Amino acid sequence: MDTWTPSSWRERPVLQMPVYPDATALASAEQRLGALPPLIFPGEISQLRERLAAVSRGEAFLLQGGDCAESFDEFGQEPVESTFRVILQMAVVLTYAAACPVVKVGRIAGQFAKPRSSDTETVNGVSLPSYRGDIINGSDFSASARQPDPARLLQAYSHSAATLNLLRALAQGGFADLREVHRWTADFVRSSPQGARFEELADRITQSLAFMEACGFDAARAPQLHAVEFYTSHEALHLQYEQALARYDERQQRWYAASAHLLWLGERTRNVDGAHVEFLRGIGNAVGVKIGPAASADDVLRLMDLLDPGQQPGRLVLITRMGSDKVADRLPPLLRAVRREGRTPVWCCDPMHGNTVTASNGYKTRDFERILQEMNGFFAAHAQEGTYPGGLHFEMTGQDVTECRGGAQALTDERLEERYRSACDPRLNGSQSLELAFRIADVLKSARR
Ligand code: TRP
Ligand code: MN
Repeated sequence: MDTWTPSSWRERPVLQMPVYPDATALASAEQRLGALPPLIFPGEISQLRERLAAVSRGEAFLLQGGDCAESFDEFGQEPVESTFRVILQMAVVLTYAAACPVVKVGRIAGQFAKPRSSDTETVNGVSLPSYRGDIINGSDFSASARQPDPARLLQAYSHSAATLNLLRALAQGGFADLREVHRWTADFVRSSPQGARFEELADRITQSLAFMEACGFDAARAPQLHAVEFYTSHEALHLQYEQALARYDERQQRWYAASAHLLWLGERTRNVDGAHVEFLRGIGNAVGVKIGPAASADDVLRLMDLLDPGQQPGRLVLITRMGSDKVADRLPPLLRAVRREGRTPVWCCDPMHGNTVTASNGYKTRDFERILQEMNGFFAAHAQEGTYPGGLHFEMTGQDVTECRGGAQALTDERLEERYRSACDPRLNGSQSLELAFRIADVLKSARR
């Protein structure tokens, strides 16, 4: 740790970062970001780490979800509120059905940078830089939009600040009150089978609260009923942005990333000698690492040594994304090796990224059944190895989109074009997300027994 500074990543190979044509403009954007207030506070990070420590002991479940990538255009109250509302609904389902506290984390308020498999995109013989997320360039296929623009760093900061402000209000200001449980269901979800099932559950919660009040319990005085803790997260990809927002915490005498509570490393940027691992090892936030099917037990243990040498509970979240056909094969050896070393990270399942396919009509999609299969494979592997399946990491939106096929709505390939809005990966819509929560609630309940 002695050699670490907020800029020590610059001496390492940096993958997945754009080359800015105007270095002076980039430097001045970094300088301006450095002078802005932090988006989150160190005390909140400590609190999240305590919650995650409880998850690692099998006492709670992590629910981490949101857009694949947020966009500057699709911004405002509606998209944020609808995503928040679906996460609340899923949390209620899991808290109630599995009698398990749920740690709520959004992929939100900063999820603006995307790793790409190719530096350029070619359409009709024209090659341009790939779209890398709104914090870097624009998605339109034109030379001007695709040029990396440092002004976007400041835009990303102000979008994140506004989103976070709304989330804090929603979490603390009455919207998340359990007595409001009936109001969280969007109209298009209400008419679906999952919507009806949710309304039944909401009725039971309302009845239980009324019963407790009749017994003399004063609901108005129970703060736990009125608010939720809601944390933010994004992929730590844009290192200039993250460095500019790194702050020193005098009280705990350590650096932290002030851009979100939890930052994760992508599957493509987690090489142990690379810049991204170097930056993340020195900050005090909760840190996630995506683990794909090619990762060996050795890779995982080396990453754990680097990112969490002190083996602190609640520091590391290992997010496995194996694919429904590989999870039974690839996950158990990793669980075994990590357990053998006496380590207890939070194990979280991302059932989305190993299960992306191209439909016959060219749309990138994901199959609801395969998502569920990976989730079930994850629970089965943990049951077999005696480890705790601690969380779900998923891509969703509160909107009524048609991007993933299947589910109780039996969405077909032909219908994907109706409301396919994602600029990146296909997301579960509100009903599919709720269905996923119902389908895993029982498995979670038995995993905790
Ligand atoms: N504060 C508790 C919790 O976060 C109970 C709670 C209040 C809750 N509103 C909620 C749970 C909304 C889930 C969803 O668990
Ligand atoms: Mn994605």
